[in-house]
Amino acid sequence: MQENWKKMEAKKALVTGAAGFIGSHLTKKLLNDQWSVVGIDGFTDSYSPIEKRARAEVLKQSKSFELVEGHLCELEIQPLLKDVDVIFHLAGRAGVRPSFSLEERYYQDNVASTAALIDAVRASNVRRIVYASSSSVYGNDKTPFSEDRDTMPISPYGQSKLEAEKMVLKASDEIETTALRYFTVYGPEQRPDMGIRIFIEKALKDEPIQILGDGTQVRDFTYIDDIVTATVLAASAPCSSLAINVGGGSSVALKEVIDLIGQLIEKPIRVRYGDFARGDVYRTEADLTLASTALGFKPTVSIETGVSNEVNWLLSRNERLSHKEVTL
Ligand SMILES: NC(=O)c1ccc[n+]([C@@H]2O[C@H](COP(=O)([O-])OP(=O)(O)OC[C@H]3O[C@@H](n4cnc5c(N)ncnc54)[C@H](O)[C@@H]3O)[C@@H](O)[C@H]2O)c1
Repeated sequence: MQENWKKMEAKKALVTGAAGFIGSHLTKKLLNDQWSVVGIDGFTDSYSPIEKRARAEVLKQSKSFELVEGHLCELEIQPLLKDVDVIFHLAGRAGVRPSFSLEERYYQDNVASTAALIDAVRASNVRRIVYASSSSVYGNDKTPFSEDRDTMPISPYGQSKLEAEKMVLKASDEIETTALRYFTVYGPEQRPDMGIRIFIEKALKDEPIQILGDGTQVRDFTYIDDIVTATVLAASAPCSSLAINVGGGSSVALKEVIDLIGQLIEKPIRVRYGDFARGDVYRTEADLTLASTALGFKPTVSIETGVSNEVNWLLSRNERLSHKEVTL
């Protein structure tokens, strides 16, 4: 089904959350494939907006990219949909742990924002919307997670992603819809509040890594290029109204990831273990059968290659920071 995407005439996309980790990679791919892109981002305070603005500056170097700054609940969205063929809706507040103390913000950024977008889409000629949902909709179910299982989110974040996902899929009477349930995404430009990035940054500074839990918890880590591949395939796949898992193809314990980082940076790593965090599930693993049949998707990047790429990105970022070529 890669052929469907390759054959698809380059058109116009709206990417919400374009200055985010995944949104900026996706936008680069679309621009490289000759699409024109309108990117919306509210530069929210989920983490340093300076990091988001730096990504947006890179995208703005393309003549085919237009940045619209604002929160989806406050923007007039409908005029932005003129000539748009596909919406990639990635804007949202990610992260499980902060969602317990910031429920209202999570509701606004994930649920109310999606409702505003869907309202605007109804009166447009947009063909399809692809939504960035999350493995957090499953909760602590037995693995591998398959899409026909009941969803049982155990955090306000997971709950907000599930509500938004249902809203998107319900719109399929008027527009083609796909919700992709992303499993822990990593790679260059990863969010600064996420596991692998925090571990590498601490290790490079010779600081101890604090693990919430005993390190045996397992994640289906998915490399950013694989996520982007699945996301563009969803724009041209001959299916609608489906929620589809997107995972990395292997589930790895946090301890193993830390050992791998130690080997890559050739330094001993100090680890401190603590209590498991509220809302964190113990094990995630995607059943990728539907991703394969509906999208023709198979992950291609191993954890060894992916973590090595992220280490190299952070080393070069530190180098540029020391020359003040990037700001924190
Ligand atoms: N990174 C992961 O591992 C992962 C896993 C599952 C699902 N997801 C989902 O994928 C999407 C992208 O994740 P990410 O890791 O790139 O996060 P990110 O925080 O880097 O990107 C999200 C971007 O959206 C913007 N934004 C947030 N709410 C907005 C709103 N209401 N209006 C306009 N802009 C808004 C933010 O400023 C940010 O730049 C999110 O919806 C997230 O829930 C991510």
